[in-house]
Amino acid sequence: MRDALIVFVAILPIWLGGASPHAQTVPNLPKIVNRDGRFALMVDDRPFFILGTQIHNSSSWPVSMPKVWTLAEGLHANTIEAPIYWEQFEQSPGNFDYSTVDMLIHEARQHQMRLIILWFGTWKNARMHYVPQWIKSDLAKYPLMTKRDGDSLDVLSPYSLDTLHADQAAFAALMRHLKAVDSTKQTVIMVQVENESGSLGTVRDHTPKANKLFSGPVPQQLLTALHKPSGTWRQVFGRDADEFFAAYGVASFINQVAAAGKAEYALPMYCNTWLRDPLEAAYPGKSYPSGGPTFNVINVWKAAAPNVDLIVPDIYFASRTAWRKILREYSRPNNPLFIPETLGMSDVDDLSDVSQYLFLAIGANAIGFSPFGIDSLPLGAFANNAYPKLEDDAATFRVLESMDQVLAELIYRGKVQTAVQARKPNRVALDLGRWTAIVSFPHDPIHAIRRRDGCVLVAPLGQDQFLVVGFDAHVDFVLTHPEMREHPRYLRVEEGTYQGTAWKSDRWLNGDETDSGLDFGNEGSILHVRVGTY
Ligand code: DGJ
Repeated sequence: MRDALIVFVAILPIWLGGASPHAQTVPNLPKIVNRDGRFALMVDDRPFFILGTQIHNSSSWPVSMPKVWTLAEGLHANTIEAPIYWEQFEQSPGNFDYSTVDMLIHEARQHQMRLIILWFGTWKNARMHYVPQWIKSDLAKYPLMTKRDGDSLDVLSPYSLDTLHADQAAFAALMRHLKAVDSTKQTVIMVQVENESGSLGTVRDHTPKANKLFSGPVPQQLLTALHKPSGTWRQVFGRDADEFFAAYGVASFINQVAAAGKAEYALPMYCNTWLRDPLEAAYPGKSYPSGGPTFNVINVWKAAAPNVDLIVPDIYFASRTAWRKILREYSRPNNPLFIPETLGMSDVDDLSDVSQYLFLAIGANAIGFSPFGIDSLPLGAFANNAYPKLEDDAATFRVLESMDQVLAELIYRGKVQTAVQARKPNRVALDLGRWTAIVSFPHDPIHAIRRRDGCVLVAPLGQDQFLVVGFDAHVDFVLTHPEMREHPRYLRVEEGTYQGTAWKSDRWLNGDETDSGLDFGNEGSILHVRVGTY
């Protein structure tokens, strides 16, 4: 019996690639890896799951950060996403101010968190609000986009080489500095290049240079990638020509900014997306920025921006149908899924169940998840029992953070399935081959005071052995195709914790705790389950 336990416990670190005694002192740089069409963000040479949160736009300042850290720790995040503002970083041409990035790195290390730097450069929410004043006041050199009628927009044209070179120089300086101060400790694990690019108010730029390019031929690079015959933009793309042209222009610009940064310090880089509505009619330049990496133009972006490792969705839709469609659209053989911004945490009057979205993302093999605007919560939000929903989300993050290495590896291996509670009591069957996990919500319909959506993840650990992590749910293991007189039973149910990738069994559950299946409460728990038959 005891031997069986040791084998069961020892199995994990081996296949999870636990730390070798010969590990290098300085790990390789963070990078995105792809195995059999599945992705991982490697940090410290092993898969890392981003349990993040993004701070508010104007919070990368010393006065705002203490609150951020308190709340991020309350949530049990392992990563903070924080902006660097071009206007502050380069207040006069060529003079760079590293104080903000140094402050963020220093404080992240103090709080033992990782950082994702958001470069608020040429684009921020389809506008140019973060470019330095010396650019805003020299529009002859740094031209604005114009509409068909000649009116100007509050966004820079992507066809200006002066604008491109200025952004490249600043971003390269930032990356050069990151290399100098962080390449050993690697607190910064990824960089977002620009923020929600594109334009509102026009489908494409109508400056003379843009018009000339638009009436010319589609570049061969794009034709080859999309398997299209040659021609002008209108001939090749018909009604979509303006939007595809815009996407190609913006993506090419950002690709060159990313390339300049990578030449200095090759961290993984991504672009985030102001989404088009996945369920309703949507109009480029009106209901969403045209030229940004919306799912209808991802292929254009992929062709034009090979230096951008990921194109990712900012999901501010509450509907699960919308979520599922967006997760499908952005999870592609050539594109890792990551949710860098989502709703749920930035407004205490409108808290929504962040955990359900997190589990949807995990079920779609995301490499990370990060709700937006944590610092609009009150300072004591996670401490005073004041917001049950927040406590539930913190419980979810706490449990997943305690096993984030294991989670990341399982996602990379494509092993994780999740179930999320629907609006009404529901059951979800997770097909595990010989076994099926039947997940029921809520676990006690008569007594449970429902305050959160239950969620469960299941992953195989070996023959007839499963990892089960759950919150407010009930799980039964049944045989998928039982033989005559073959009945399932639990051979061993261990409740425990992970230390790194090593499983620590705290107690064995049996009797009332397993006779009617496995129950998970508000706080959640991690189980290793071994099933058998009689
Ligand atoms: C999406 C943007 O990317 C963020 O910077 C922020 O402006 C949020 N929207 C606000 O909801």
